[in-house]
Amino acid sequence: MNASKRPMIIAANWKMYKTAADVGLYMSSFYDALPEQRAGVRLVFFPAAVMIPDVVQAVAKRAQVGGQNCHWETEGAYTGEIGAGMLAAAGAELVLVGHSERRQLCGETDAQCAKKIVAALNAGLDPMLCVGETLEEREAGRQHAIVLGQLSRAIDGLSRDEYARLALAYEPIWAIGTGRTAAPVDAQQMHATIRDAVASIASPSIAAAMPILYGGSVKPNNAVDLVGQPDIDGALVGGASLFPLNFAAIATAAARTAS
Ligand code: 13P
Repeated sequence: MNASKRPMIIAANWKMYKTAADVGLYMSSFYDALPEQRAGVRLVFFPAAVMIPDVVQAVAKRAQVGGQNCHWETEGAYTGEIGAGMLAAAGAELVLVGHSERRQLCGETDAQCAKKIVAALNAGLDPMLCVGETLEEREAGRQHAIVLGQLSRAIDGLSRDEYARLALAYEPIWAIGTGRTAAPVDAQQMHATIRDAVASIASPSIAAAMPILYGGSVKPNNAVDLVGQPDIDGALVGGASLFPLNFAAIATAAARTAS
């Protein structure tokens, strides 16, 4: 599989960190450290929803902005939730679906992820579905079955055009926020397995074009080895993305790999 046919996506998941007051300084530091943005790399920021307009303004079309979650209904009596259309109206172009923290802390299910993907697409947002196994599941040798189950239950039955707007992120739960990264060869193996599954669920050409990002303790010093793998099309970065110089170093390393 030729990775260069797919765009490289380097995405920052800020989780529940930062406020609007941090955005201006962050972006000026980030872009100062990233003098030339190579054509082959797409940058995405996933801030908390309240900051989306501030980040959209600060990146000034140099990056895309996404929400971290949405509800599957368009609107309704769902206190504390946010609709995909609301994210789009705030300037978001993408939304994360099924991040492991939401699955583990909020009990989000594959069935809900499937509905959220449809809601996002209907609202004009491009969904990025996160999948990944726990340490126990990996140690039991069940990682492929777990991830492929999450995938097939969430993305089955979309149209060709809808699949073209979907991205995936493989985030092994044991690697998130732990400083423990999947070995590039293991991550590559999982990405190739995921791509094969997308070929069966959707079609080989859809699978060949689908971006599959890796997430889990991506840092400036391991980004190249990870995104250099043929089926790894970028990184979804948590902790390191909170520091503009670290995130710029990851984006720069990825740009070198993509060029
Ligand atoms: P860390 O990079 O902090 O491990 O987080 C990864 C993640 O969850 C991105 O969505």
